[in-house]
Amino acid sequence: MNVPVDVVVMAAGKGTRMKSRTPKVLHRLAGKALVGHVLDCAAQVGARRAVVITGHGADQVEPAVAAWGRAGLALQCVRQEPQLGTGHAVQQAAPALPDDGVTLVLSGDVPLTQPDTLRALLTLCDGQHLALLTLDMPDPTGYGRIVRNAAGDVQAIVEHKDASDAQRAITEIYSGIMAVPTRLLRGWLARLDNRNAQAEYYLTDVVKFAVADGVRVLGHRISDALQVAGVNSPVQLAELERAYQRRLANGLMADGVRLADPARIDVRGTLQCGQDVDIDVNCVFEGAVTLGDGVRIGANCVIANARIEAGAVIHPFTHIDGEKAGVSVGAGALVGPFARLRPGAQLGAEVHIGNFVEVKNSTLAAGAKANHLAYLGDATVGERVNYGAGSITANYDGANKHRTVIEDDVHVGSNCVLVAPVTLGAGGTVAGGSTITKDTPAGALSVARGKQVSIPNWKRPQKAPKG
Ligand code: UD1
Ligand code: CA
Repeated sequence: MNVPVDVVVMAAGKGTRMKSRTPKVLHRLAGKALVGHVLDCAAQVGARRAVVITGHGADQVEPAVAAWGRAGLALQCVRQEPQLGTGHAVQQAAPALPDDGVTLVLSGDVPLTQPDTLRALLTLCDGQHLALLTLDMPDPTGYGRIVRNAAGDVQAIVEHKDASDAQRAITEIYSGIMAVPTRLLRGWLARLDNRNAQAEYYLTDVVKFAVADGVRVLGHRISDALQVAGVNSPVQLAELERAYQRRLANGLMADGVRLADPARIDVRGTLQCGQDVDIDVNCVFEGAVTLGDGVRIGANCVIANARIEAGAVIHPFTHIDGEKAGVSVGAGALVGPFARLRPGAQLGAEVHIGNFVEVKNSTLAAGAKANHLAYLGDATVGERVNYGAGSITANYDGANKHRTVIEDDVHVGSNCVLVAPVTLGAGGTVAGGSTITKDTPAGALSVARGKQVSIPNWKRPQKAPKG
């Protein structure tokens, strides 16, 4: 396609059936706003510009659109006040559309259209024809019908409310997506009127103008209804979510990933997997997640923005979120069950992080272990360190964060408080229950705890007798 593509995204409608204060196009599918899916698709077909028509909830939709920005795609919002129909919506966008391009009309609430489908539609349009994406629907109630003549040429789109009984029997419907040479569109938009059952300016009336002007109208009929399905209610949103996830799961399995149950995985972002990856039920992946060869993910894990190297095992109920800083888990590491890895956790090979252990902004070298009930924040942990149950780094003095350095082969006993900044010298041992406020020498046993006091013949308080 040599002709530049400019996209119009219709997003002014109210979406009453969502029964939500959030504008319809900002509801999320697979973790991303519906309109974000549409704009991503526009970017994938190489669009030059996207003009988003806003109206209901514009003050929320416009900042969301602005924040979405992608290199190479100029973004602009145009308000439609009041909303007088789809033709009126595109009329508002027309001044922003250069004459040398093809306009691709999309809806902000139709998230699952495939870029290949739009490419095929654009190829059909070929910079000179009017191309409509159509579909056969067993129950076409409510949709615009594609009216063809005896030769099969498209003559008009007739809205359900304006259709005769014979026209209502037509099952081929207009999806709401068209590709049209912009200079032709501009002329047709100027000719729209609202003399119809809904007193609206129908975009679909451009078809009859094209026919009158001798411009070919071509239908691209697809069979996959999901690609043109809109979201109008929470039920439809959930249905599309499950359909999206099922497709994604099928794709993963086609690549050899073993899913315990393809109906019980949610990917809200990108999940890249090596060979022989096993994923148990009810796992959620967010942002960018990479799983190396042979990685196993137990049931009920939530993993976001993380890189898990080959052979690592994430046991059930583990929560990993790297946010911006990311999390990395080294080859052969064992994490969980019930572990929490926060931004900047970098675990080396064969590291063990056990139940109720939290790691934040800390590097653990190969073979380090924290197996139970512990906190490592802002720490640099050497190889083979053993970090005992109940031990924490006191990394925050109320104003600043400080680092704790635990050199290779240190053993930290149970219930230790390491008050940062502090360095534990290589090979040393910290006795259980110690509060360490000063650096410890390499190889030494360091003990820092109060003396035990025992009071003889002490009487435990007794409960008062009842009544
Ligand atoms: C439209 C088509 C119909 C098609 C159907 C597919 C027209 C006249 N009809 O009907 O042929 O079968 O889509 O779903 O185009 N919108 C605005 N401003 C407006 C009106 C609508 O931005 O003034 C937006 C809506 O937010 C929505 C899209 O345009 O994203 C479609 O509007 P909707 O009211 O759903 O169109 P339908 O009447 O369903
Ligand atoms: Ca609709």
